[in-house]
Amino acid sequence: MSISPINGTRAQIRTVILISGSGTNLQAIINEVRSGELEINLCAVISDRPGIQGLERAEQAGIPTRVVDYQKFEQRADADTALGRELESTAPDLVILAGFMRILPAEIVTRYRGHMLNIHPSLLPKYRGLHTYRRAIEAGDSHHGSTVHFVTAELDAGPAIVQYRVPINANETEASLAARVQQGEYLIYPRAICWFAEGRLRLYDGDVWLDNHRQTQPAILNEL
Ligand code: GAR
Repeated sequence: MSISPINGTRAQIRTVILISGSGTNLQAIINEVRSGELEINLCAVISDRPGIQGLERAEQAGIPTRVVDYQKFEQRADADTALGRELESTAPDLVILAGFMRILPAEIVTRYRGHMLNIHPSLLPKYRGLHTYRRAIEAGDSHHGSTVHFVTAELDAGPAIVQYRVPINANETEASLAARVQQGEYLIYPRAICWFAEGRLRLYDGDVWLDNHRQTQPAILNEL
């Protein structure tokens, strides 16, 4: 049995993935591409730091990697400019933020508006920012989850596309909750990317459109 090529030969959308860490979402996307379920051209993985596991995953999959090491820049704006240049040079149709833990400058967000997705570990609009698992448990919420959304200027506030929802159990810990939510991320992110790649998903007039219908709420996938 031959393994399908990671870089497609057909007219597949050029996709760049930005990471900062372990890259388990990246791996889930790679797995879907390898299995033939997701037809995109993974043309580059860009990291904001060297030596992270996500870069190893990309290299093992034969995807070109680039590092814009933010620590090496004295001025944050210069690092952002370097990142913008790297992105531009890959000519992406779609930019995927997969655990990319920096706030992007307005120029990059505007440049790729409608062509940039993020995954955030909360049921947006709840809990933008950090420590979402802890905040949901401490608030006594009944459910938590993760959201794939279009990236817009406001942090973690772009229109939501799809959410994975899990109940918060008694004696739940941040770690146990994160583990369950992340299993769902590996389902919803490839699915949203697939919709985009098939031309079924777009951002129009500030809203999510799926199959030519304006979405008033994100699609929801519940934990089984
Ligand atoms: C993911 O769980 C994602 O939801 C979160 O970082 C994790 C990255 O894991 N993203 C954010 O918190 C963005 N605000 P991974 O590197 O193993 O895919």
